[in-house]
Amino acid sequence: MSNPSEAELIHKFKGISFTTRSSPELLKSLDTFDAREDDILLVSYPKSGTHWLAGILTRLYNTQITLTSPIEFGDISKLEELNKLSSKRIMPTHLDYNMLPPNFKNKKCKMIYISRNPKDTAVSMYHYYRENPNLPTIDTWTAFFDLFLKGDVVCGSWFDHFLSWEEHESDKNVLFLFYEDMKKDLPKIVKEISLFLCLNISDNDIQDICKKSSFSEMKSNTEKENSDPSHTVCALTSNRKLIFRKGVVGDWKNHFTPKQNRRFEEIFNERMKGSKM
Ligand code: A3P
Repeated sequence: MSNPSEAELIHKFKGISFTTRSSPELLKSLDTFDAREDDILLVSYPKSGTHWLAGILTRLYNTQITLTSPIEFGDISKLEELNKLSSKRIMPTHLDYNMLPPNFKNKKCKMIYISRNPKDTAVSMYHYYRENPNLPTIDTWTAFFDLFLKGDVVCGSWFDHFLSWEEHESDKNVLFLFYEDMKKDLPKIVKEISLFLCLNISDNDIQDICKKSSFSEMKSNTEKENSDPSHTVCALTSNRKLIFRKGVVGDWKNHFTPKQNRRFEEIFNERMKGSKM
């Protein structure tokens, strides 16, 4: 059987590429989404550590919450499905700030944004494109590098996504996290998350959560499980085994040529002129 064409896998909505796993009808209807004041959004550009953070959040709450699939994943029946949940909801999304259903903003729901060095994000996304049958075929790293810089990848430009959220970094209901900080001192970040969510968690529990959320623990647990579609928090796959690749900082150095690095830096400096990053 031949590979599905790009048009079968990807469509554009408001100029941004989505996979056909996010139906145009659902994306159009997101504006009417009924948020609840106690909803928590877990927001990321793909490949920034979304599953890592989701693992931590579910452990912080134990059984009192439902970690849903991403709000932009599925068809129009999705809204109804989310409406029916009676428990507190943690909802992942890769949407940029401008596309977020306005109800979440009006109700000042808590939102946690996780970001990652865009060079490592690009490399992680390249491997994801290579492994993930829901994404178009990519032949070489060089070809992907160009697409990433142009923002011609799923969820659009990393720069647009980051900047749209960074504008809200100091909003009281937004917590901004970095993958690299989590790698450096996870207990400190877990403590920060628990304070933001007003959860009273002991230092022992924090240590335990960090142990259970290590890359090796999460990867081996996934390998033990039968892959359950409801187990991913990325709208681009239902296969959890595609998520845990290397889990390190700086893998970009194994992929970027010096020339690519110079070009990336130029574009980064230009696009991020007004950013604090
Ligand atoms: P790599 O491809 O660089 O290994 P997302 O969950 O947003 O799709 O991000 C996936 C990236 O986060 C992958 O990066 C994955 O390995 C990494 N990751 C997942 N769990 C992790 C953990 N517990 N610790 C560190 N990195 C993790």
